[in-house]
This record gives sequence, C-alpha cells and structure tokens, in this order.
Amino acid sequence: MTILEDIRAYWDQDAHTYDDAAHHRPRSPGVQAAWLASLASLLPDPPVRVLDCGAGTGFLSLMAARLGHRVTALDVSGAMLDRLRGAAESEGLSVEVVQGPAERPDGTYDVVMERHLLWTLQHPSEALEAWRAVAPQGRLVTIASLRGSSDPLEQLRAFVRGTLSSIRGDAPHHHAEYPPDLRDALPLAGGVAPDTLIELVRAAGWRSPRMWRLRDVEWAETLALGLPDRLLGVAPRYAVVAEA
Ligand SMILES: C[S@@+](CC[C@H](N)C(=O)[O-])C[C@H]1O[C@@H](n2cnc3c(N)ncnc32)[C@H](O)[C@@H]1O
Repeated sequence: MTILEDIRAYWDQDAHTYDDAAHHRPRSPGVQAAWLASLASLLPDPPVRVLDCGAGTGFLSLMAARLGHRVTALDVSGAMLDRLRGAAESEGLSVEVVQGPAERPDGTYDVVMERHLLWTLQHPSEALEAWRAVAPQGRLVTIASLRGSSDPLEQLRAFVRGTLSSIRGDAPHHHAEYPPDLRDALPLAGGVAPDTLIELVRAAGWRSPRMWRLRDVEWAETLALGLPDRLLGVAPRYAVVAEA
C-alpha cells in the first residue's frame, strides 16, 4: 500500500467514531457559536467559493455552508465524506463533495481552507503551492492547534490531560494512533508550531501571512469542561490567513 492508501484506510476506519469527540463535532451551543464567529471573521463576506481540504466529516465545510458560502469538500476518505454528506443533508445544506488527494485539487476558488490536515500530509509544501494555484486571487485559511512536540509546555499539559482521561476511562478520540513508520513519513506529524506554519505558507507563495489565536473558541471549549480538566484548559488554537 502507498502512504496515501494507508492514510485513507486509517480515516475510513476512524469515520465510525470521529464525531463522538467534542472537538470534532461540538455539542455545546457556546462552542458551536464561538467557532462560527471565528470562521466568519476569517472568511470574506458570503457568498464566495470555498474549498475545504481534508474536510473530513465536515467540521469547517458545514459551518461555511451555514454562513452562506458555496463549499466544495475535498477528502481522500470516502467514509469521512459519507458522514459529511449525511450531516449536510440532515441540515438541508448544499456542499459539493469530492473524494481525492488534497495535494491535487481541481477548479478555481476564492478561499482554500483547512483544519488539522497539514500534519498528516507527506508533502505539505506542495499542497500549499497547489492550493495557491486553484485560488489565484484568493485567500488561504489554515486552522491549527498547538500540540505534540511543537511546544514543550503544551506537550506536558496534553500528557496530564491524557492521563486524567485514561484514569477516568474516557473513550479515546481516535480508534488508534498512526503507526510509527507512517508518522516517520510525515514531516509535520509531531505538530506544527506557528513560526513553522507561517514560513511554509510564505514559501509556497502566499502573501502577508497573518495569525490569530482563537481565544473565543478556547474560552467556550474550556467553559464546557468539568473539573479538574477546566484548570488545564484546551490546546491553544490559532489560524494563519494569507493572500495569493
Ligand atoms: C484530523 S482529520 C480533520 C478533518 C476536518 N478538517 C476537521 O477539522 O475535523 C484529517 C482529515 O484529512 C483527510 N486526509 C488526510 N490526508 C489527506 C490527503 N492527502 N488528501 C485529502 N484528505 C486527506 C483524512 O481523511 C481526514 O478526513
């Protein structure tokens, strides 16, 4: 199997439980509203053509459609996209769904956006260049969380959160970890720090990268936690936006 086939197989299996985790499909009205406000502030006024790369079960796609944008959801996993299609239909939202690699998008868009995809790409720089080519006058919106080895303090907090969660017997957020040989093939699998992301975005030809910390989302997510998790808070979330 190729690396992309391994990745597709992983997410096809993960699709069964992906939306059970609150940060994959928020249940709290406050968290939903904070995400909607944040995404609205990062996108141009609707309606514009938006490509959501690595759309998964539709976290960003569904919100962008709710905001009135014309959304294309691109993902390599058919099972993740089936979930997205089902969620869009049950809300009466129109989202075009395309199965394929995010590194080879088709069409022309005003915005290319992604959340939590770059870490799992074998060639993130090539993807960022390909996205620029399909948005020649457009905007890039990337949304990331500070996690993994990209920041030692956050790594420590994540370890404590994970320990508390396993003591309680909480369900894990994914059906499995990526196997070590797969992680080794992905340059950002350990997490992406803001400076690294901004440099990658700039090197791919995107202009004037700007960064926002998504504090409203973090605040709403923290309010939705019980004790003692609330004391630890959530991983910092941030967005990098740039123009073609
Ligand atoms: C962590 S999930 C993020 C899903 C969604 N963006 C979200 O925020 O919930 C990563 C997604 O990227 C997809 N993916 C991974 N590698 C891909 C690639 N090379 N091309 C397209 N999709 C990919 C996976 O199938 C999965 O749906």
